[in-house]
Amino acid sequence: MSSPHILILGAPGAGKGTQSANIVDEFGVEHVTTGDALRSNKEMDISDMEFEYDTPGEYMDAGDLVPDAVVNAIVEEALSTADGYVLDGYPRNLEQAEELADMTDLDLVLYLDVDRSELLDRLTGRRVCEDCGANYHVKYNQPETEGVCDECGGELVQREDDTEEAAENRLDVFEENTLPVVEYYEDTDEFVAVDGEQTPDEVWTDVRAAIEAATE
Ligand code: AP5
Repeated sequence: MSSPHILILGAPGAGKGTQSANIVDEFGVEHVTTGDALRSNKEMDISDMEFEYDTPGEYMDAGDLVPDAVVNAIVEEALSTADGYVLDGYPRNLEQAEELADMTDLDLVLYLDVDRSELLDRLTGRRVCEDCGANYHVKYNQPETEGVCDECGGELVQREDDTEEAAENRLDVFEENTLPVVEYYEDTDEFVAVDGEQTPDEVWTDVRAAIEAATE
């Protein structure tokens, strides 16, 4: 098979970014992530599109979804140049899932299943490197020196949407908008659910096995 087309689904904090990094290292595919793409364009002027807010960043910091028209264009552009990919953060509602079906075929749809209380703990405890974006956690994945990135020495900070209030809202938005997307894929042959409450290494063992089975 040519390079795989993998979709990774899961609530905020389920471990999509963590496992996507493993997938990129092992299978050499591109990481197409709407969260990172939007964070790089937080100040983009979308005022002429007559949405509620004038920039993507205002939606993101509140934990709300950025309008579909903005996100669909980002994903379509990224997938058009990717050979194999792991798609992370999209689709987040049924309208986006229908757009995606028109853009590409999928070889595997992975769903990382994690309980809400665990998700909240992971989100509020996450710290990210402001230079290279590496992910840590105050309890589960500590750096060697507190507050300093092991990879590049950059400062570790909390994402603005990882405060308790924004994180709770993101989980509400997930349950309302994105759980129907999980149900949309659940009955397809490509769907594989993984227990995302295991340790990161155990989750990776299951994720890798699912990719190998889908691509053999
Ligand atoms: P985005 O950046 O995509 O955030 P998210 O989906 O909320 O996901 P996260 O990055 O928070 O979590 P993750 O699943 O990657 O978990 P991670 O591996 O980091 O989106 C941000 C915002 O952008 C959205 O709110 C929205 O505004 C906008 N947006 C993005 N896409 C959009 C779209 N399609 N449409 C509209 N708007 C869109 O892990 C979390 C923590 O847990 C880390 O600290 C990690 O170390 C730890 N951890 C990971 N795995 C484990 C484990 N197995 N055990 C213990 N700890 C673990």
